[in-house]
Order: sequence, then structure tokens, then C-alpha cells
Amino acid sequence: MKKRLVVLTGAGISAESGIRTFRDSDGMWEEYRVEDVATPEGFFRDPELVLNFYNRMRQDLKNHHPNFAHEALAQLENKYDVSIITQNIDDLHERAGSSEVLHLHGELLKARSIDDENLVVSLPFDSLDIALGDKAPDGAQLRPHIVWFGEPVPNIELAIQWVQKADLFLIIGTSLLVYPAAGLVRYVPSGIPIYLIDPKEVKLPVNTSVNVIQKVASEGMREFLKMVDD
Ligand code: APR
Repeated sequence: MKKRLVVLTGAGISAESGIRTFRDSDGMWEEYRVEDVATPEGFFRDPELVLNFYNRMRQDLKNHHPNFAHEALAQLENKYDVSIITQNIDDLHERAGSSEVLHLHGELLKARSIDDENLVVSLPFDSLDIALGDKAPDGAQLRPHIVWFGEPVPNIELAIQWVQKADLFLIIGTSLLVYPAAGLVRYVPSGIPIYLIDPKEVKLPVNTSVNVIQKVASEGMREFLKMVDD
């Protein structure tokens, strides 16, 4: 029986792939207002602006590729049952070959009906943009399959169940400032080792001992691999 490694990733794991994080000094939220592009109110005020924001990001995703950290997590499936809970909307974990990936905040390469959050469609790579007037199968406008601020996070219940079964818990590249994702660490069973890879100091919402690897994701993964290589 393989041990279960549960991983929580954030924007920092994709930083070395050239995808901007949100809250670093060159982050997305320095250039855009959350209220404009990442809330349902913003979408209803100016849907075209929001669609174009995600259209650009989606087109740009083609230019980015998984880095060593994504690849190492995929490789670790040889040794562990690896479950990845990601806050990222990119598909770099999947492209690296990870087989169990749960997206908490949605997926850039999917769209959904504005009327039915369960009516989700994949966007084919040759026509990735969503335009005003593009309809879901129920006849309602398509919108990005993104969990915006103020919206519920439907996958959080499953994420909690995964975390509760962890034999090892690894956090990579997240400021842990956004809930409920940040609160997942509270569900790690007591006594289970927690590792945290991030070049900055990150504060956990629980008072528990953590193996901090203060490095960028690729270097941090190399160190993590040495630490768990028994
Ligand atoms: N390797 C690892 N970590 C890095 C790297 C790197 N090369 N570069 C930056 N980081 C770290 C930063 O130090 C920071 O702790 O990644 C983290 C990025 O934090 P945020 O920008 O806040 O991103 P994240 O935690 O994923 O944000 C959560 O907020 O806006 C929303 O929905 C969006 O999913 C996102 C959520």
C-alpha cells in the first residue's frame, strides 16, 4: 500500500513556468482590480471586459509549460498516492501527467452556463475564446468556469475529505490568504508531517509544526524529494 501524499498548490508553483502570481509585487492584482474581473458583480457590470480578461489569459496559457515542480509531483505517483488540490486555474499539473487533480477555483480551459454552475463545457484549443452571445447547451450565456470572489467553492468538501486521509501534506507556492482553501491545513490529521515550499515566509492558520523549505518551487521540490527519500 502506497502512502497518500496530499498537495495544496497555489500560483507560486506556476511562477517558474512564467505565469504571474496574484499578490507578489508584479502580481495580477497590482494591475487589475479584483472587483472588476473576479467577482460576479464585475461580470454583470461589464461582461465583455471580464470575458476578454480570461480570453487573453487562456490564449497565453499555450505559451507556458509545466516546470520541474509540476513534473516531480507527477513522478511521485511511482512512490505515493498523490492527490493534488490546486487553487490554480491553469492545466500545468495535468500536462505534467498528474492523474488526481482537484481545482478549487475552476479551470481556464472550461466554460459554464451563467444559469447552471453544473453545466460545464471544455473549450477546444482551436476556439478558446468566449464571446458575448456564445451559449451553453441550456441556451444561457457562457462564462468562464472560474470561482469568483463571493462565490461558493463547490470542491472544498471533497478537498477536505482528501486532506483528512493524508499521510503527508505538502503546500507549494500559496500565500494562504484566500479562504476556504487556506483553511484546509486545519484538516490535516494530527501527527502527519506538513511541508511548505515557498520563497517567502508564509503564515499558517494553525499552530502546528511545519517543515519549511524557503525556496522557489523547483529547488524546494528537489529538497523535499531528498527529505522523503527513505
Ligand atoms: N516558487 C514557489 N512559490 C512562489 C514562487 C516560486 N517561484 N514565486 C512566488 N511564490 C509564492 C509567493 O511567495 C506567494 O506566497 O507564491 C505565493 C503566491 O501567492 P498568491 O499570489 O496570493 O497566490 P495564491 O495563494 O495561489 O492565491 C490564491 O487568490 O486571487 C485568488 O483565485 C486566486 O487562486 C488564487 C487565490
